[in-house]
Amino acid sequence: MLKIHSLQWLLMLFAGGLFMASCDIIGDVNPPEPLYSPTLIGIQVPANFPSPVVMPDNPISKEGVLLGRTLFYDPELSLDGKVSCSSCHNQELAFSDGVSLGNFGVSGKELVRHSPTLINMAWMDQGFFWDGGSKNLESQAFGPLTHADEMGMSLDNLEKRLTADPEYSELFLNAFEDGLTFQNIAKALAQFERTLISSNSRYDKYVRNERGGNLNDLELKGLNLVQEKCSSCHSGELFTDNAFHNNGLDNSFTDESHELSYQGRYRITFELEDLGAFKTPTLRNTMVSAPYMHDGRFSGIEEVLEHYSEGVKAAKTTSRLLYQNNGKAGLALSDSDKEAIIAFLHTLTDEEFLYNPDFSGF
Ligand code: HEC
Ligand code: HEC
Repeated sequence: MLKIHSLQWLLMLFAGGLFMASCDIIGDVNPPEPLYSPTLIGIQVPANFPSPVVMPDNPISKEGVLLGRTLFYDPELSLDGKVSCSSCHNQELAFSDGVSLGNFGVSGKELVRHSPTLINMAWMDQGFFWDGGSKNLESQAFGPLTHADEMGMSLDNLEKRLTADPEYSELFLNAFEDGLTFQNIAKALAQFERTLISSNSRYDKYVRNERGGNLNDLELKGLNLVQEKCSSCHSGELFTDNAFHNNGLDNSFTDESHELSYQGRYRITFELEDLGAFKTPTLRNTMVSAPYMHDGRFSGIEEVLEHYSEGVKAAKTTSRLLYQNNGKAGLALSDSDKEAIIAFLHTLTDEEFLYNPDFSGF
């Protein structure tokens, strides 16, 4: 994967319709002039964000995004015609599903992992899924599409079903020279997913010095605490390093249930240091995306903070960054620390993202 400078990225063409939500910028920060092309779009990089990952084999086009969005919301992509990607990735919940382990797939069986949020995926440079088991969005979609407990389709069946629909033939031909293929199904989904950018929370407006960007004393105290205690992993403007850490949820990894998922990234790399390590989720929109963690074990943010304060288990692979209690595991947060952190986390809720009509079903 190749990273390019954001300016170059901006010079890739993009449509005016997307991400113009930050137009009410005041002060000296001006949004760059959008370059418009009917066939090719990129994504507009928010002023406070780093450069995204670029996939040269799958440039974003307006037609590709439209197709991807249509596919994302279409239950015809599943065996029984009832399950779409959005069954488990609901926009108002930051594209998570509100339950610990969902049973919304075609089999009705409980899944072995919690549905993560889908936010700022154009910046995810170290793989997808809680354990990073999928390298890129161009292959990730085949997981849910074919999994018996998710959408349950064979690729043959999927191609047949979409080919039978003349509307899809046209959408595919508009988006890709070679029309309807398996690869293009995933490519279109990937293009749509990369447009799911959340960058207009009150916190963002504060950082960019825009109208509506005020944080009160409690929220500012929370911001400082998050920077001091959490940002080694929930780092930068993305509030994640997109890397893998053991944040001390468990100290035994011998449980073979749930497809060995408790082993975390070890399941993929077989490196002992990866036992119990999971991909850091973003803190953006976290106040609307409970329950929390790879198995949805914490139902509320209070439980999460209790975990970080007193509940961090000292396993061999538990991140040393979490030893902030006189050398012992845990961050030792006071009640007023927790209150401030929660107040700050609320400022990361981005209503423009949660209700953006460009991201919704039709
Ligand atoms: C039945 C529920 C279900 C359906 C349907 C479903 N997903 Fe998911 N999705 C999940 C779960 C659970 C995970 C976490 C799996 C893991 O990490 O092992 C996930 C993970 C993901 C991720 C990884 C995000 C990250 O941060 O690494 C992406 C991207 C994604 N899904 C996209 C899709 C797309 C696209 C579709 C439709 C083709 C889809 N999902 C259909 C439940 C679902
Ligand atoms: C050592 C790195 C690290 C530090 C430091 C850290 N976290 Fe995390 N955090 C993670 C990882 C990794 C996960 C996912 C773990 C899992 O699912 O098993 C996570 C999960 C979370 C979640 C759940 C999000 C979701 O979508 O499920 C929240 C909320 C959270 N952390 C908040 C915090 C806060 C607040 C702090 C500081 C008080 C903090 N974290 C410090 C690595 C860290």
